[in-house]
Amino acid sequence: MFLIQRCLSSLNNKTELLKITHASGRFCFSASAKMSKKFKNARRIEGLDDNVWVEFFKLSSDPAIVDLGQGRPDISPPKYIQEELAKAAAIDSLNQYTRGFGHPSLVEALSSLYGKIYDRQIDPNHETIVTVGAYGSLFNAIQGLVNEEEEVIIMEPFFDCYYPMIKMAGAIPVYIPLRYRPTKGNGGSSASWILDLEELESKFSSKTKVLIINTPHNPTGKIFSKEELQGIADLCIKHDIICISDEVYEWLVYTGKKHIKIATLPGMWERTITVGSAGKTFSVTGWKLGWSIGPKDLIRQMQIVQQNVIDTCATPLQEALARAFWFDIKRMNDPECYFYSLPLELEAKRDRMVQLLQSVGLKPIVPEGGYFIIADASGLNVDLSEMTDECYDYKIAKWMIKNKKLTTIPVTAFCNAYKKDFEKYIRFCFIKKDSTLDAFEKIIKTWAKEF
Ligand SMILES: Cc1ncc(COP(=O)(O)O)c(C=O)c1O
Repeated sequence: MFLIQRCLSSLNNKTELLKITHASGRFCFSASAKMSKKFKNARRIEGLDDNVWVEFFKLSSDPAIVDLGQGRPDISPPKYIQEELAKAAAIDSLNQYTRGFGHPSLVEALSSLYGKIYDRQIDPNHETIVTVGAYGSLFNAIQGLVNEEEEVIIMEPFFDCYYPMIKMAGAIPVYIPLRYRPTKGNGGSSASWILDLEELESKFSSKTKVLIINTPHNPTGKIFSKEELQGIADLCIKHDIICISDEVYEWLVYTGKKHIKIATLPGMWERTITVGSAGKTFSVTGWKLGWSIGPKDLIRQMQIVQQNVIDTCATPLQEALARAFWFDIKRMNDPECYFYSLPLELEAKRDRMVQLLQSVGLKPIVPEGGYFIIADASGLNVDLSEMTDECYDYKIAKWMIKNKKLTTIPVTAFCNAYKKDFEKYIRFCFIKKDSTLDAFEKIIKTWAKEF
């Protein structure tokens, strides 16, 4: 008792006692500090507290919910990558730190694979970096290359982390929207999302440092055509801008479409950092391994950030990823190669989902790449009066979780300046096993009977 009194009296006026419990014969208590002014967030994270993944993960915790929200595959990853991880973890030395900018066998594999694709020699030690997911690459590139007050051009809708990363660097995001312009030729597909190059040029200023492009694009599924990429490249060269090309879905390209790397266009290698992801390439998002390929001078700035922030990525994961790459590099002429078999498997899932969405009056825009479908939900005749969010897409997405046990992602989560242009859309993820899609179908069919 004496001890408790002493502890209580030592609590200063910034602290309040929450509870005292009796456990295993000992008194335990916990106290929470009243926030001192010094505990306030640093200015660099001001206004960045909202995060769609955190919010929708929490909203979807009920196991009865069919979660088509986050891009989390529930299909099995290839067996060989899982087996290689088990083998790597069994080797003592592979359980220790490795080279900070990328495990030697992995950067060799990246150099071999991308050497073929870029049709140039890629120096594994100076022209590649292995990072904590594609997130790590994006963070290193923005922190390593962009100064306070410089401008970074991003296309709306954009993968949501671009904005906070630009803000944390003290830089200024400048937005250009994709505009939906269906024609007879592209109607109903993500090719209808058009980037107006004149409008893009109007966004450049003396402060512009970087332009971020994402192809295949999340959330729309758009694959930028060679002409569009050439137009963007011309502007980057004319205004002497660095391009960060987020190509995490580079292999997920559907019939009749081709992914082109902007870095392969004339004059672009020197100014482009191309970002990839093991999570997307091998359906192992939980591994959080990514990489960048680019010229030595740009990769060096990313290495400097990495050596002072995370130092190195997990060794066994990198070794297993290297072995998986070698396995598929050697069978790149074989349709069984995972780079080709995965998009084939996904295309059937995409088509199934498109049909189901249409049956309840949602209007999907068929993606040419990636593993998301966005659908126009404005035709749904449901009562949203209980929903308090500002944007229609948030209201309808939350209504669907509550009333249909179905999670999707509101597309304005990927917007800042042009939310009004995108608020009728919600995003569905289709890298899901058949039983998940069956559960989705059941929800949709029951829903369709209500009409
Ligand atoms: C366009 C885009 N870039 C980057 C990432 C992040 O990838 P990673 O999980 O490898 O960090 C994602 C993940 O969904 C994405 O969709």
